[in-house]
Amino acid sequence: MATKLIRNAVIMTMNAGNEIVQGDIFISDNVIKEIGANLNAQADRVIDAGGKVLLPGFVQTHIHLCQTLFRGRADDLALIDWLRQKIWPLEAAHDEDSVYYSALLGLGELIRSGTTTILDMETVHHTESAFRAIEESGMRALSGKVMMDHGTEVPLALQENTQASLQQSVDLLERWNGAANGRIQYAFCPRFVVSCTEELLVGVRDLSERYKVKVHTHASENLDEIALVEAERGMRNVVYLDHIGLAKPNLILAHSIWLNDEEKRIIRDRGVKVTHCPGSNMKLASGIAQVPELLREGIKVGIGADGAPCNNNLDMFQEMRLTAFIQKIQHGPTVMDSRTVLRMATMGGAEVLGMENEIGSIEVGKLADLQLLDLEDFHVYPSYDADLFSRVVYAATRGDVDTVMIDGEIVMQGKVVRTIDRTRVLK
Ligand code: GUN
Ligand code: FE
Repeated sequence: MATKLIRNAVIMTMNAGNEIVQGDIFISDNVIKEIGANLNAQADRVIDAGGKVLLPGFVQTHIHLCQTLFRGRADDLALIDWLRQKIWPLEAAHDEDSVYYSALLGLGELIRSGTTTILDMETVHHTESAFRAIEESGMRALSGKVMMDHGTEVPLALQENTQASLQQSVDLLERWNGAANGRIQYAFCPRFVVSCTEELLVGVRDLSERYKVKVHTHASENLDEIALVEAERGMRNVVYLDHIGLAKPNLILAHSIWLNDEEKRIIRDRGVKVTHCPGSNMKLASGIAQVPELLREGIKVGIGADGAPCNNNLDMFQEMRLTAFIQKIQHGPTVMDSRTVLRMATMGGAEVLGMENEIGSIEVGKLADLQLLDLEDFHVYPSYDADLFSRVVYAATRGDVDTVMIDGEIVMQGKVVRTIDRTRVLK
């Protein structure tokens, strides 16, 4: 059994009381066993936090690792044109190696900016490469191949046969679900209703029940997307997903900006989860999600950066600030306090993934997914009476992340990511 002791940290637990504890953490293998001041424990490895801030790792509930290499493409297009003109042709051009390096680059950036769990959506092909990169990086991830057996202007290389799409997803699931000590899970990823036949979606519904895994899709991101769904299926997005029996607690909807009352009611009553992607929603001019209202309704909402071309980086610090700013400018300064935002980035994400008993906070019995932030700031030092929640949400940057641990393993230390050098190795 490997043991670690992190000494002398300011621990933002993100537990139900948002407690901050000054002290130590004892970790055995991948589990937090003890938290307290001056723990009297022997450990194989002792890490002196030197009074730095220890936070749970961020949980990002919508990422496309396969798009990391597409950064800087199409700054001025809205969703459907952006997909048709830029993203789908680029995904069609991916090969085994480019998916691997795209994923590794994204994973390095995610770890460097304190993210320890992702819900990811890959492209149609070469998903095996992404899983290999995830396994090597140490990231905790739910991921799957994208599914698209329908839609105009989809490049030939991305057009799938329905049964083949389902079968390939199951093959990947059987190989990767539960891999790496349970750190990797499979999630079915029908891209969005626009690119999926009803037969495919019904197949996903049945298989996700049989294998007890998540379904990760995009819904109600953009007005043209909604119009396409209504024209073809005669229903709004979420109503249609409910109609075919997909609206259940294992369904995670990315964006969900333009929900009407009926759709919000379905999401709430069926326990469907939502991911907010503020940077992407602004850059693609998709719209402003009704996050405060969704939270008030008791709907679980996480945060995700989406793909790199949607917002140009995969940094939760930026997404947290955007989450607050975009609501404040509409609804006033008190609509999104920093505790709520930091909660969405940690426990909120864990709840979206149904992993609230395993990750998202620093509590005894939880998995050791942690980030150590160096917030020392000489020109205001020692004003530590500043609200730490506010400092993390509004002032911290990815450059402040010093050490990251996932599943009890140190994946970044002294700002060096264990796997990052490999991302520079182009064949
Ligand atoms: N909707 C369908 N596919 C995508 C995608 O790749 N990115 C975003 N932001 N929305 C989508
Ligand atoms: Fe997306």
